[in-house]
Amino acid sequence: MARANVLQLVTGGIAAYKSCLLTRLLVQAGFSVRVAMTDSAQRFVGPVTFRTLSGHGVATDLWGEGDTDPLDHVELARWADVAVVAPATANILGKTAHGIADDIVSTLLLAFDGPLVVAPAMNDVMWAHPATRKNMELLRDRGAVEVPPGTGWLACGVEAEGRMAEADAIFRTVCETAGVPEAAAAAPGAESAEASFWAGHKVLVTAGPTREPIDAIRYISNRSTGAFGFALAAAAAARGAEVTLIHGPSDLRPPQGMAAVVPVETTAEMSAAVAGGIRAGHRCLIMAAAVADFSPLEVANGKMKKESIGTAWNLEMTRTVDILADVVRPEVTPGFTVIGFALETEDLINRATEKMRAKGMDYIIANDPTAGDGAFGPGRHRVVLIGPDGVVWDSGPADKTVLAGDLLDRLAPLLAAGSGEDS
Ligand code: CTP
Repeated sequence: MARANVLQLVTGGIAAYKSCLLTRLLVQAGFSVRVAMTDSAQRFVGPVTFRTLSGHGVATDLWGEGDTDPLDHVELARWADVAVVAPATANILGKTAHGIADDIVSTLLLAFDGPLVVAPAMNDVMWAHPATRKNMELLRDRGAVEVPPGTGWLACGVEAEGRMAEADAIFRTVCETAGVPEAAAAAPGAESAEASFWAGHKVLVTAGPTREPIDAIRYISNRSTGAFGFALAAAAAARGAEVTLIHGPSDLRPPQGMAAVVPVETTAEMSAAVAGGIRAGHRCLIMAAAVADFSPLEVANGKMKKESIGTAWNLEMTRTVDILADVVRPEVTPGFTVIGFALETEDLINRATEKMRAKGMDYIIANDPTAGDGAFGPGRHRVVLIGPDGVVWDSGPADKTVLAGDLLDRLAPLLAAGSGEDS
């Protein structure tokens, strides 16, 4: 079952050994994998290891030596559906950001125009350097998905930020970026303790705005794009959850791998779909939708004409149903988990905590629209996860795709402890 073609690019860092595990996870999950390595990468791990794991020759230079064909830099770039650089050194980030192509890996990166995942790994001072920060920013602006390095023991002998993310985290991001989040759950050995909590869990996710009609043509809505809800749905599916995605109107394509996708338009429709999902045996609701709080009291038949309205008019609005407070709360039974969202421009933590208590949520994800690239659309984003005992995690600005997975991994042990299951 070939899922997609992955071009795995390995550059020179000690974390190259973890990249071998990434190849194994990708191959086991059914991806076709071709590897290219820089000279420095080959000082850490030999091409034979990657050739054995991927089942294909490894591209190591531009001149047709070894396993490499002189046209590999074009052919492999054309062949690939997604590319992943792991580990990504400061050098390759700089070269890619500025279009420098002087070896097989940097040349492939310039010849490739599909989705790119990068997993940086380097010494903490290099990682914090303004040049590296700027290069990373340029790559993110062009759509690259970063799997950020963690804090841990670095090869230079200090405990600091710069350690490459673990292979399974990079693997899941590749699955999501390739549009096959469900592949992550299919790989033997890919399940971490965090991921196993979600495996087989029936999860409802709401996403996007709702839209309230004024007449046959016009409506009231908000700026939500659905990006974060879609990322959460994809991340849950990547961890083996059986996801029903209920979404309002969005220009984005819903992720692959959903058990069901239910498009809705109005708050009333979303409310009915959520209630139906709870009755159908879902055990967790992630309420990421930006639900319209008011709708026009009366919806005009046909199109309202300005001649009949005059020069000014008042639109009378009425409160919509509060899905969490009025529909979900009476429906749920013990063991059902409700995770809500709050977007607050002031006093983020206190207001979100108040909302969590008022609407009977178990956890709330507070959105900070002033950080990263703002609250709407893809890109970088900051959230704070709050639970019954206060703040659990402050993400700082991070890519939504990565953030969604991190949130689920942090929630897994908390929810497992709450329900008495093993995480
Ligand atoms: N929500 C809901 N039904 C509504 C409005 C909101 O279920 N009619 C949910 C949202 O999906 C979110 C949470 O409630 O998970 C908080 O939504 P938010 O809009 O931030 O809060 P509101 O209570 O609507 O308050 P306000 O808009 O005044 O901040």
